[in-house]
Amino acid sequence: MNKKVTIIGAGNVGATVADVVAKKNIVNEVVLIDIKPNFAEGKALDIWESSHIEYFDTRVKGYTNDYSKTADSDVVVITSGVPRKPGMSRDDLIGINAKIMKEVSQKAYEYSPNAKFIIVANPLDVMTYTALLATGLPRTQVFGMAGVLDTGRFEAFIAEELNVSPKDVNAMLLGGHGDTMVPLPRLTSVSGLPLPDLMPADKIQELVERTKKGGGEIVKLLGTSAWYAPGAAAAQMVEAVILNSHRVMPVCVMLNGEYGQKDVALGVPVKLGYNGVEEIVEIQLNDEEQALLNQSAEHVKSVMKVLDDLKLF
Ligand code: NAI
Ligand code: 2OP
Repeated sequence: MNKKVTIIGAGNVGATVADVVAKKNIVNEVVLIDIKPNFAEGKALDIWESSHIEYFDTRVKGYTNDYSKTADSDVVVITSGVPRKPGMSRDDLIGINAKIMKEVSQKAYEYSPNAKFIIVANPLDVMTYTALLATGLPRTQVFGMAGVLDTGRFEAFIAEELNVSPKDVNAMLLGGHGDTMVPLPRLTSVSGLPLPDLMPADKIQELVERTKKGGGEIVKLLGTSAWYAPGAAAAQMVEAVILNSHRVMPVCVMLNGEYGQKDVALGVPVKLGYNGVEEIVEIQLNDEEQALLNQSAEHVKSVMKVLDDLKLF
């Protein structure tokens, strides 16, 4: 059966998701949508012109705000919104991005009510909640990308420090997508060998702190936020859904008592398949980890209050 992925926002992250998904050659069609005239059309054409060179069949097409072309998508990825500039936090973006999220998620939902929605725009956790409210879909169908990126950063830093292949590093991380995120060295390993046995505690802490500020490190270098790693991370989630592969990865999902949290969207380990969030995988945290997760949840809830003040719902 034909498989179709729509990506809203053809900017740095959205176009990268389209490019990586196309190169995976796992869907028949990728549709890019942007509000800027001809922008999605241009990005899509450029990606499609690499199809022979990269050897993929996926048709990549772009449209200016024409949601009818997104009909019957299996997955919708929402990247539309402004990125941060130096000195800004992700939370500073809420005023602009919440309105965009409400509008585009409702339009995409109208044409693809059965799609799985992967939210990417920031502030990620609250944008996931916004899309959930805007579409009225269950939490299994609307979830956010952040943990795959944040663990990816942690894994890359560990691989560099130990001079091992990043393929062998496996990390886990919980919480919101911000400086309160909770990397979990206790649950991180190199081919099954526990990280705390391979690296001194102060070095681990240094890499944890670098991971927490990983987005900001790129913003300082580029003047805007990252796109290669975020795009690849969102594409990995698209792949898990399209291939129904039941992969376990950190995903932002609305919690209903899991990990001691309720009515807040937060990153937790999730099993992802064609039906979206198949399971929230719960494990016992130690007291320190649970306290850090609680702090992160409180921070996300404080940003949710800003959403309430916008009175969009
Ligand atoms: P960008 O500025 O390159 O692209 C955003 C695109 O959205 C632009 O092309 C713009 O025209 C489009 N857009 C704006 N309003 C729209 C609307 N109503 N309908 C359709 N398209 C619309 O920004 P970039 O770097 O791609 O970042 C996008 C978002 O993703 C930002 O909010 C950024 O903070 C977030 N982000 C999230 C990450 C995560 O881990 N969750 C990682 C990286 C970025
Ligand atoms: C990042 O972590 C900006 O959220 C984006 O790179």
